[in-house]
Amino acid sequence: KTVVIAVDGPAAAGKTTTCLALADTFDLRYLESGRTYRIVAYEAIRRGVPVDDRSAVVGLCDRLIDESRTGNLFTSSRYRPQELRSNPVDLAVSAVARIGELRGRVTELIHQWARVQARCVVEGRDIGTVVFPTAPAKFYLTAKPEIRAERRVRQEGHGSYEEVLKDVIRRDQADMSRPVAPLVPAEDAVEIDTTELSVAQVVGRMVSVCRD
Ligand code: CDP
Repeated sequence: KTVVIAVDGPAAAGKTTTCLALADTFDLRYLESGRTYRIVAYEAIRRGVPVDDRSAVVGLCDRLIDESRTGNLFTSSRYRPQELRSNPVDLAVSAVARIGELRGRVTELIHQWARVQARCVVEGRDIGTVVFPTAPAKFYLTAKPEIRAERRVRQEGHGSYEEVLKDVIRRDQADMSRPVAPLVPAEDAVEIDTTELSVAQVVGRMVSVCRD
């Protein structure tokens, strides 16, 4: 049976950086679930599918799964990070992530991927609550929105602080208030506020929780 570490939290809370460090420390495979929602949003824009047309978006997702060589969008190397992190995709992705039927498809893809891993770390918004509710280690990372926006601007090297902050706040609200799989900490998640912590400090805490 696969051992999963679940890492959730709002936009730009430092999930990717810390997950990569955990993966390195414990020799885990790493999966960024947000990438799949971004791929669907990106393709919807490219192919002219309106993101608020639920059945059209689900149909698009099925077509993408059929078209992908491995049948799993996560492993597709067709998409460049700049494309998936562009402003239009940031704006469209929340509408895509609201669609319950689409979330079901993505959850199934994650399960499919995880089945063939021995040990993995998976990051997202609903990993500890919905995708892997029995994961033996769960983390919920947060930080003040201003700090998260500052880090995102530094990391991406483009976009203005004001715009990024607005996007972070807008996506947080959308993720927290949606009817399906809203962003909340799992009851048994270890919450870490990273506002005043360095990456090394956050990773250090996560590593010691995992070792226990
Ligand atoms: O990297 P960042 O925190 O900006 O976002 P992301 O992880 O790439 O996720 C992009 C969007 O996908 C989020 O704003 C969520 O709306 C959605 N998402 C989700 O609903 N559930 C997940 N497990 C992962 C992402």
